[in-house]
Amino acid sequence: MTISVRLASDLDQAACARVFVETMAATFPQEPAESRTEAAYRHSTIGEEQWVAAEGSDVIGFISVYWPTNFIHSLYIRPDRQGQGAGQRLLGAVLPRAKGDMELKTDKANQRAFAFYRHLGWRVVGEGMAATGPWWRLRRAGGIL
Ligand SMILES: CC(C)(COP(=O)(O)OP(=O)(O)OC[C@H]1O[C@@H](n2cnc3c(N)ncnc32)[C@H](O)[C@@H]1OP(=O)(O)O)[C@@H](O)C(=O)NCCC(=O)NCCS
Repeated sequence: MTISVRLASDLDQAACARVFVETMAATFPQEPAESRTEAAYRHSTIGEEQWVAAEGSDVIGFISVYWPTNFIHSLYIRPDRQGQGAGQRLLGAVLPRAKGDMELKTDKANQRAFAFYRHLGWRVVGEGMAATGPWWRLRRAGGIL
């Protein structure tokens, strides 16, 4: 089925939370269970804008952006729908809307996500350490591409 991308509404929030919980569990199984709950989703997206990737009415992924700093805070594609273009489509929806460069952080241990972003032209501009481990800061030009 064709993947469509659109701005999320309040009605999509429960589905986004389910994607978050399922994808967090598959990607970061070592992290505490309380980091992958609907409450954790709602807390982590406060003040952010979400776009969803959907197949028909089925939400298969979302991206969450904090526009005051052009920061992509979350990008999650349901495990059974990864590798089918949804992540790239969601990035493609928000990047042209940025005034200037966009940035994101990804765990160094998440080598799959790092390779995905590098493949799409994101470059390393920093690094740091969190309670969950070391991370890369990546940047890519936004605006009309
Ligand atoms: C990382 C993630 C967002 C990528 O989304 P996706 O929908 O699986 O990726 P896509 O199918 O859109 O891939 C887009 C392009 O990147 C490439 N790509 C994807 N994964 C790749 C990898 N590990 N290495 C190299 N290239 C990769 C694809 O081949 C494709 O390129 P092409 O168009 O030239 O063929 C997704 O797998 C995911 O949600 N992972 C778990 C959660 C996560 O890690 N989120 C990021 C946290 S920072």
